[in-house]
Amino acid sequence: MTHVSPLLRPQHFIVIGNPIAHSKSPAIHQHFAQQVGLDIRYARQFCPDNADSFAAVVDAFFNGGGIGANVTVPFKEMAYQRCHTQGTLSAHATVAGAVNTLMLQEGRLHGDNTDGQGLVNHLHQLGWGLDKTNVAIIGAGGATRGIILPLLEAGVATVTIANRTLSKAEQLVVQLGAASALIQSKALATTTIEQLTGNFDILINATSIGLSDATLPLSDELCCEFAYDLMYGRELPFLTHFAKQGAQVSDGYGMLIGQAALSFEQWTAKKIALPITL
Ligand code: ATR
Repeated sequence: MTHVSPLLRPQHFIVIGNPIAHSKSPAIHQHFAQQVGLDIRYARQFCPDNADSFAAVVDAFFNGGGIGANVTVPFKEMAYQRCHTQGTLSAHATVAGAVNTLMLQEGRLHGDNTDGQGLVNHLHQLGWGLDKTNVAIIGAGGATRGIILPLLEAGVATVTIANRTLSKAEQLVVQLGAASALIQSKALATTTIEQLTGNFDILINATSIGLSDATLPLSDELCCEFAYDLMYGRELPFLTHFAKQGAQVSDGYGMLIGQAALSFEQWTAKKIALPITL
């Protein structure tokens, strides 16, 4: 049998999700690989929605020599749990309570969350300064949990969280403060969506409302310089509303690319030049 050096084999990567057929990750990562001259295999990996199946998929992939895995809905919290009990976690993943990037570090499973930093990098790319800005985030779910620490690390001065269910925003602030001294020191404000008023530098929609036909009950007294929706790939009334007011707007496609680039860079130690055109 011909001996093939492991260094010559293409490196293997997967994205684990359910559903997963729609995932753009293989195309994005192949684009990155081409940019830096690497031969990689990046596959979509369907997984039944339970923790045992998820653990089996992860173990089989890494035991088989896989280099890195992305994790998407509904497995980000399961990936966090697995790294929490059996591996290690980055600070961003710890605060987010969710993992989107898996790799082996010194033989142990390591989980990171690159979503928030992907957003910050995209905002910088757009030329939207973050230092000393006042930011409001609508929504208090997993997406919000993942972006607050990277925003504060990037120099944001204040964060106000507005949510349909005020108690969820209040609970989130307590949980995040307990998980991060930086967040604790910033004393995040909370309000309902209707009562969110004033002029913010950046206003972020981190709700899942874009998936439905519902509209956010935004106050007439709410305005911003920049409006960002974490969703992409569909018409987003949130962005239309603020574009009409004269704000600069962006959907979350650049964040998707940004989080992927950060995963790829960790796995391969290669630097990706952004933006890319797919
Ligand atoms: P994810 O983990 O993707 O962030 P999630 O935890 O279900 O998803 O959170 C979804 C967020 O969108 C929540 O802040 C939710 O508000 P509630 O906490 O009040 O449920 C918000 N959301 C979803 N549909 C909404 C709607 N029609 N109007 C306002 N907010 C909505």
